[in-house]
Amino acid sequence: MTYEVRMNEDIELINRELTSYFQNSDPLLQSIFDAMQYSLTAGGKRLRPVLTLEFCRALGGEVRHAVPFACAVEMIHCYSLIHDDLPCMDDDDLRRGKPSCHIQFGEANALLAGDGLFTMAFQAIADAPFSHQAAPAAALAAAGILSRRAGVRGMIGGQVIDLEHEGTPVAEPVLRQLHSLKTSALIQAACEMGAAAAGADAELMDEAGEFGLYLGLAFQIIDDILDVTGDQQVLGKPVGSDAQNQKTTYITLLGMEKAKNTAAVYTERAAKSLQKIPDHDFLLRLTEQLLNRNF
Ligand code: IPE
Ligand code: IPE
Ligand code: MG
Ligand code: MG
Ligand code: MG
Repeated sequence: MTYEVRMNEDIELINRELTSYFQNSDPLLQSIFDAMQYSLTAGGKRLRPVLTLEFCRALGGEVRHAVPFACAVEMIHCYSLIHDDLPCMDDDDLRRGKPSCHIQFGEANALLAGDGLFTMAFQAIADAPFSHQAAPAAALAAAGILSRRAGVRGMIGGQVIDLEHEGTPVAEPVLRQLHSLKTSALIQAACEMGAAAAGADAELMDEAGEFGLYLGLAFQIIDDILDVTGDQQVLGKPVGSDAQNQKTTYITLLGMEKAKNTAAVYTERAAKSLQKIPDHDFLLRLTEQLLNRNF
């Protein structure tokens, strides 16, 4: 199977399974389900859930067992995007090619849609032994991984540092720490939960985490580059948002060329940490492709 076919199959599986968590039969709740589904089904690269499925596969696990964990990390990611776009955060009106959730449904509903996705993620994990025959120990591990990586010592903490430093210069070590929390943490969770679904040992779990750290650092630099050089139509979100919010990025800190070089160095580090992952061809290709993405 080619890389492209496998990627499409993964994404189709994730989209199908995600839909199954958002069936609603109560008319009183339809508005919140509409808001959650609007943001979740608007597209997006599905990078994190693909990583979960592919880490499980690479480590010899059964993909079906990783499906609820993959859905959970995409739900958390999607909630983080809805909240990230709110006027009190980055104040962006466009997301995944459509008006942001708060533009379409109002701020209160966007806040609650984010909360709904957040909590649904942990429901999916807790139900995984019943819905997808995941090992109970794997589900417990996944809940621990995701709560830590998405929490205040992970993604939320990164968002806090990001917002607190708008308009003030940030030194490179702080920027790196900020990126490792706001962006790498969820990517690490995606990889680690895939490893958990495959019953990986502590050493392979560490490799998954290290890969996610460096992939995430490269990913955020490219995201910041695309915020300067990207095409809004292709990106599906506004360009120039970081400048408007006076964010420090690797581009403001080092200039465009050095920022690109830094992303390439982190990509190499990520590729290197795949060496101990047994069946890593797909993951290596994905890592390389992300460096040259235009959305
Ligand atoms: C955007 O993530 C937020 C960052 C951490 C940079 P993605 O670029 O993965 O967004 P989608 O899922 O494709 O919309
Ligand atoms: C977002 O970083 C990280 C999140 C945790 C959502 P950005 O603010 O750069 O992401 P975009 O550019 O809005 O997608
Ligand atoms: Mg932001
Ligand atoms: Mg943003
Ligand atoms: Mg950005």
